[in-house]
Amino acid sequence: MNKVGVIGWPVDHSLSPVMHNAAFAALGMTDWFYDKMAIPPDIVGLSLRELRDHGFTGINVTVPHKQAVMRYVTADERAQAIGAVNTIDFRANVGTNTDVSGFMDDLAAHGVEIAGQNVIVLGAGGAARAAVYGLAQAGANVAIVNRTPEKTEQLISDLGVDAMPMTFEKAAKGKAALIVNCTSVGMYPKIDDSPWTDEVPFPPRVTVYDMVYRPQTTKLMRQAEANGGRAIGGLGMLVRQGAAAFSIWTGQEAPVDVMFAALEEALKENSG
Ligand code: ATR
Repeated sequence: MNKVGVIGWPVDHSLSPVMHNAAFAALGMTDWFYDKMAIPPDIVGLSLRELRDHGFTGINVTVPHKQAVMRYVTADERAQAIGAVNTIDFRANVGTNTDVSGFMDDLAAHGVEIAGQNVIVLGAGGAARAAVYGLAQAGANVAIVNRTPEKTEQLISDLGVDAMPMTFEKAAKGKAALIVNCTSVGMYPKIDDSPWTDEVPFPPRVTVYDMVYRPQTTKLMRQAEANGGRAIGGLGMLVRQGAAAFSIWTGQEAPVDVMFAALEEALKENSG
């Protein structure tokens, strides 16, 4: 049996087992299994050793362990730049971050142009790091708006990329083509919240990418559509970061459509 899985604390909410096991089933990979493991922070190092010793091929890493595991694996360039590992391959003991490619692949799948475009990133946490890194590398002019400006400064200096801290008011006037929500605002159950405050006019004809996928259509996405723009939800990013991990472990191309359908089904069952 080839074992993979996800570690987190808590980890119950993770949808990764659903999409990976659906992918294994669809490809007839009956000797693969994706497990979900609740690991408290004080035993992360020990757990990694145990999992490796018990023959796990690799794992995903979720909150709050994405930084902590970096001490125990060789973080590749991307993971080092972002300061977080979300995927480990135990065979090489290498950690990478597939959130960047998950996000960028999903933008590409939706035909969203990046190079030379003005992009507003909302948020300066872990998800924003992956977005800013990918967007800056793809040649976007990135403006970052965050509730806590010091975190924006820290993000820019850590990533070493060319991005601008900005206020909502200034960003709104900057002719952005794309707004990316990397905050948790609007997430179930507070579905009537939006990270774009009512006091600032919403830019017309902009594309919104909302990393929130629960609900699948957020208030921010409705604001974009109401102003003649386009809205893309974050489910595709979740699928594609998983697809990238799947390929690292199995050496096979992931069945993205199967994974997407499995997630949609699971989300239907889960109210939000
Ligand atoms: P993740 O790893 O998902 O990015 P995170 O690191 O906790 O999670 O980051 C969450 C982001 O959402 C942060 O930028 C946070 O703003 P602060 O840096 O000011 O904490 C932002 N965020 C969360 N709740 C928010 C709210 N109610 N209003 C505005 N921003 C919010």
